[in-house]
Amino acid sequence: LFTRPVTFMLGVAKLEQLPAEDKVEICFAGRSNVGKSSLINALCSRKDMARTSNTPGRTQQLNFFDLDGAFNLVDLPGYGFAQAPKDVVRSWQGLIRHYLRGRVKLRRVFVLIDSRHGFKGADLEMMKMLDETAVSYQVVLTKADKLKKGQMEKRIAEVVAALKKHPAALNQIFATSSEKNTGISELRAEIASLL
Ligand code: GTP
Ligand code: MG
Repeated sequence: LFTRPVTFMLGVAKLEQLPAEDKVEICFAGRSNVGKSSLINALCSRKDMARTSNTPGRTQQLNFFDLDGAFNLVDLPGYGFAQAPKDVVRSWQGLIRHYLRGRVKLRRVFVLIDSRHGFKGADLEMMKMLDETAVSYQVVLTKADKLKKGQMEKRIAEVVAALKKHPAALNQIFATSSEKNTGISELRAEIASLL
């Protein structure tokens, strides 16, 4: 599936710009700088299709990628410490909330968590919102290359334990590195199973 051509479809900054809901959507959420855009690139074997950056808040709109007409991948602006004016951040948050609540074809949200940091307050808020909207979501640990094996095992156990409190969260989590391509084929298989 991921060998098929992928193209950038559109960036959405306002509700009215959301595309028609004719295809399954898979969305990537997470704090600024967690590695959402990098993960989308790794999944699609592309270098810089989704723009990545060291500056938190690089992705400032909902970016839709079309996977050969089969489904759409959606790269969300990061929550947390976006270096953007407060009113801009607030307007993205409203947009994200509306998107997550109202999207019938949204099949799965991957909530990305930095392996080094685990859950932060903003992640718990996001998951609470997903629990309320009953959108099925799944945690993906990113930047696994930054941790030693033992540290990673500890992190996974901690995340799995914390997820028990979240009714809409799936138990299975993924440990990935976009840099080293770790866990990417497993995540592709999971996405393929949702179509
Ligand atoms: P926003 O768009 O600001 O919300 O950020 P984002 O979540 O899209 O993060 P992005 O993919 O732009 O990555 C942020 C930084 O983390 C970049 O400098 C990436 O090179 C780095 N990064 C992303 N994935 C990995 C990874 O697997 N390993 C390592 N070591 N660095 C990574
Ligand atoms: Mg991004």
